[in-house]
Amino acid sequence: MKIQDFREKKTNQEKIPMVTAYDHFTARMVEESGVDCILVGDSLGMVIHGMEDTLGVDIDLMALHTKAVRRGSPHTFIVSDMPFLSYRTGIKDAVIHAGLLIKAGANAIKLEGALGNLEIIAHLVESGIPVMGHLGLMPQSIQSIGSFQVQAKSQDEQEKLYQQCLSLQEAGCFSLVLECIPNNIAQKISQDISIPSIGIGAGVDTDGQVLVWHDLLGCNQSFKPKFLRRFANLEEESLLCLKQFNQEVKNKSFPSKKESYNIKSPKKIDGIYGTKKKETN
Ligand code: KIV
Repeated sequence: MKIQDFREKKTNQEKIPMVTAYDHFTARMVEESGVDCILVGDSLGMVIHGMEDTLGVDIDLMALHTKAVRRGSPHTFIVSDMPFLSYRTGIKDAVIHAGLLIKAGANAIKLEGALGNLEIIAHLVESGIPVMGHLGLMPQSIQSIGSFQVQAKSQDEQEKLYQQCLSLQEAGCFSLVLECIPNNIAQKISQDISIPSIGIGAGVDTDGQVLVWHDLLGCNQSFKPKFLRRFANLEEESLLCLKQFNQEVKNKSFPSKKESYNIKSPKKIDGIYGTKKKETN
């Protein structure tokens, strides 16, 4: 997937799947799966680092995770989130911070909101940094909106949202995330803009769909928003495995003799920690 494929897919009415990844291991799997693109979302603050919201994420953390993801998926299109306030203190800061993510391996950056960002977006795009917009529910505005809930329910809010989408397109965004908004307005926006919309909780008519890795795989059964389809139940399965491991170490059935190295027949150790490593002795 390349930047120009986003528009081409929209023209050809091909849906664009996107999933978050935050580390090398998951990035490797996403690349193998054929999912079109990866989002190194600032949701990593919550799902990886256990923060209450995304506000504590900074640019160094985003760059660190972006580098790990790029190592795991050398060929996949990667979008990295600009964290809270990293693009709100002026064009110069926005360029420096976006540059760090691109140098860390991202193909593009994503930032939340239109108001106050249009000049910055245009400047980033002119500087060679592709920008994905993000409207609807914007988690970085949690202090202003109060809670994570469906946005743009009233006609007035929908009209504002519609105009903001057009302004992001005009500023040069190559694509747009629409988060937690009603079907009808997501459909109207997706139909009227020429860049692809990527929905999360925005219904069936957006040009693509994005999900958080941990949600998609059912890593947290207590998180159950209406829009979420869990494609696995990793929480339950992982817990079963861990309980079994715990039990088998304690009852001495793991490791068995077969799983131990015999000094008489030394074997090459391949695949330590999931990556091929040379033996050092
Ligand atoms: O940070 C994130 O994971 C996101 C998605 C929810 C779109 O922005």
